[in-house]
Amino acid sequence: MSHIGQHKKRSFYICPIFLYFIMAKTIVVIGGQWGDEGKGKLVDFLAKQADVIARATGGNNAGHTVVVEDQKFKFHLLPSGTIHKGKLNICGNGMVIYPKQIIKEINTLEEKGFTLTDKELAVSSSSHVITEEQIQKDLATGKKVGTTGRGIGPCYMAKIERTGLRMSEFIKEDNEEANRLAPFVKDTYTLINQALEDKKNILIEGAQGTMLDIDHGTYPYVTSSNPTAGGQCSGLGIGPTKIDDVIAIIKAYTTRVGRGPFTTELGTDEQTTEEGTWDKIEPNFEEQLKQAAEKGNGGDEYHQGKYLRLMGREYGTTTGRPRRTGWFDGVVARYARRINGLTTFALTKLDCFQDLDKIKLCTHYEIDGEKTKDFPTDLEELKKAKPIYEEMDGWKSDISEAKTFEDLHENCQKYVKRIEELTGVPMCIVSVGPKRSQTIILKKEHLF
Ligand code: IMP
Ligand code: MG
Repeated sequence: MSHIGQHKKRSFYICPIFLYFIMAKTIVVIGGQWGDEGKGKLVDFLAKQADVIARATGGNNAGHTVVVEDQKFKFHLLPSGTIHKGKLNICGNGMVIYPKQIIKEINTLEEKGFTLTDKELAVSSSSHVITEEQIQKDLATGKKVGTTGRGIGPCYMAKIERTGLRMSEFIKEDNEEANRLAPFVKDTYTLINQALEDKKNILIEGAQGTMLDIDHGTYPYVTSSNPTAGGQCSGLGIGPTKIDDVIAIIKAYTTRVGRGPFTTELGTDEQTTEEGTWDKIEPNFEEQLKQAAEKGNGGDEYHQGKYLRLMGREYGTTTGRPRRTGWFDGVVARYARRINGLTTFALTKLDCFQDLDKIKLCTHYEIDGEKTKDFPTDLEELKKAKPIYEEMDGWKSDISEAKTFEDLHENCQKYVKRIEELTGVPMCIVSVGPKRSQTIILKKEHLF
């Protein structure tokens, strides 16, 4: 009995420290759709409060822009924490790394006064190195999938074939690139596991998106890694029990770049490609936006899609390609919930519907006359899928200044709640514009 009493008394004194320990978290942020969901903004926001920021999969096929004090940084390989002093940034073993690109990013940061020490950047010795030959091969063969042409597929092929070049071997070569990278190359599994044991806040920054996963995406129109939650564990060497929250970023509509089936697409792939890159659009943007809204409200699907593309500035960071656009797909969102074991969604680009009279939301697919809630993994089945929509009234108002959920127009609130209902996933954040201040936090318990 006295033992119990003693224990109680002791736990009273330990309490504040205990609280500190349970506050430390490991959060995974991944893309819930086909990539480009706007992960960058949330990742930057969370990176500030993290001690360790890690990337686990993919390579410089990913890309996002970070703005700090009016300086713009385009990252393809480095994690987002590299612009904050004193954080540990990890490029995990699951990544494929093109030495020239990572060196370019390290050097650009240095020129702008953000010099990285070997305490701030660690590149896994087991990550694989992309070679010039692999880039050439991707450029020659990647067209039918619409790859980014960065050598990602061929590098992962060599890895699986067991003929790949690992970073640990690359840095033994005596050349300028190897020497530049050598100080950063480490056994990163030890660093991240040590951070877990030391109760640090860890942010795992996913790349691409669920539907581009080599196993779970729309194969063969996918990337060559597992950007889903499971891939984050194998890509860093940590166990799934260490993850506290899995946040999927989802856009309030859908986009995809490259080829492949896209059930809720508005207009066709060819029409989108024909529009050309942003530089062609920019000179008469306003006029085109107005026309797209008018024709879209008249019922023209291609122009509804064009409206979303223009409003959302849906042009690739890495390749500049216009993205294919479509209505929100609840079947995909539910699939993302299951594949990733999501705890919450963060909804982005909710401000991109403001001139639309009606907004559609896909709740089911119809395949060969059968209604289904489940995403079909067979490509032929998927190609046959027709979206079943629910139509909602638009809000016809600018919501970009909203600070709370209650500030949003009633119809807009309904739209958000309907997505939660359809997917069974609570929303932790709603984003109404690119700025940090345009972020409405609904459930802080899923964040740091
Ligand atoms: P890869 O990753 O370059 O092999 O390209 C395979 C497919 O994934 C193509 O459809 C790409 O457009 C797509 N993809 C790769 N990375 C991203 C990304 O970061 N965002 C969106 N799509 C991507
Ligand atoms: Mg991107």
